Amino acid sequence: MARILCVGVATLDIINQVARYPQEDSEVRALTQARRVGGNAANTATVLAQLGDQAAWAGNLGDRPEVERICGYFDRYGVDHDLAQRVNGGVPTSYVTLSRETGSRTIVHFRDLPEYRAEHFLTLDLGLFEWVHFEGRAVSELTHMMAYARGRYGLPVSLEVEKPREGIEALFEHADLLLFSGDYLRARGDREPAGFLQALPPGAAATCTQGARGAWGRDAEGHLIHAPAWRPARVIDTLGAGDVFNAGMLHGRCRGWSMAQALELANRLAGEKCGREGVTIG
Ligand code: FRU
Repeated sequence: MARILCVGVATLDIINQVARYPQEDSEVRALTQARRVGGNAANTATVLAQLGDQAAWAGNLGDRPEVERICGYFDRYGVDHDLAQRVNGGVPTSYVTLSRETGSRTIVHFRDLPEYRAEHFLTLDLGLFEWVHFEGRAVSELTHMMAYARGRYGLPVSLEVEKPREGIEALFEHADLLLFSGDYLRARGDREPAGFLQALPPGAAATCTQGARGAWGRDAEGHLIHAPAWRPARVIDTLGAGDVFNAGMLHGRCRGWSMAQALELANRLAGEKCGREGVTIG
């Protein structure tokens, strides 16, 4: 059982499932509506707990009553949230349109909660953990947090790079594992994950997901591999698939698995997830 801390956001997701993605300036009726707790780091931590790891989450929690829903969810799935910081603000909310036709998810995100700050993270005792995972968000804050986890505690550190954020590339050298999304590569105008991963500075292991094309991984020695996607019988819900993939990678790498073994698990978990609603099992 590995002790893993995930640092990032916890959100409320309001998910409207529609027959197909609507046209702009049209009105459609949702087939179903679900309200779930989400957020990349929160999702990853929850999946880790379900895989049997000792997962903890750190980040900001607002002071409005809806926050209790997030705490109750973490409690239910066994994610420790004692290290979270309480601040003034609401629950970041994602309004998600899920297309039944394709399984794609389109997210409009609203946030009135400050970003989690290094000032708080640097007061945490990380001695209990074996690995710290960061959601790639406020770059200037993360620089200090990653240095603290790695420099002060000597812990392996992973960084999720999902969206292009100014200056995020400066963090790459401070991570042992970099988890890139297909969106990040697309935003850079990069089509080829293999070439992209090979061009990264040596040292860190790295992965890049490409949806139905599978995932690519490069280990710390620079060896590149591709693992095909695990395809569910029917794609039902892709929301959070990347977060589930990341959990699989962390679960494997914490145990010293090879890149190939970890990629295989991560792909399978993400694929299975796409075949059902939500990121949790049960
Ligand atoms: C899925 C997700 C959702 C959340 C959104 C935040 O990856 O974590 O649960 O609302 O992304 O960007």
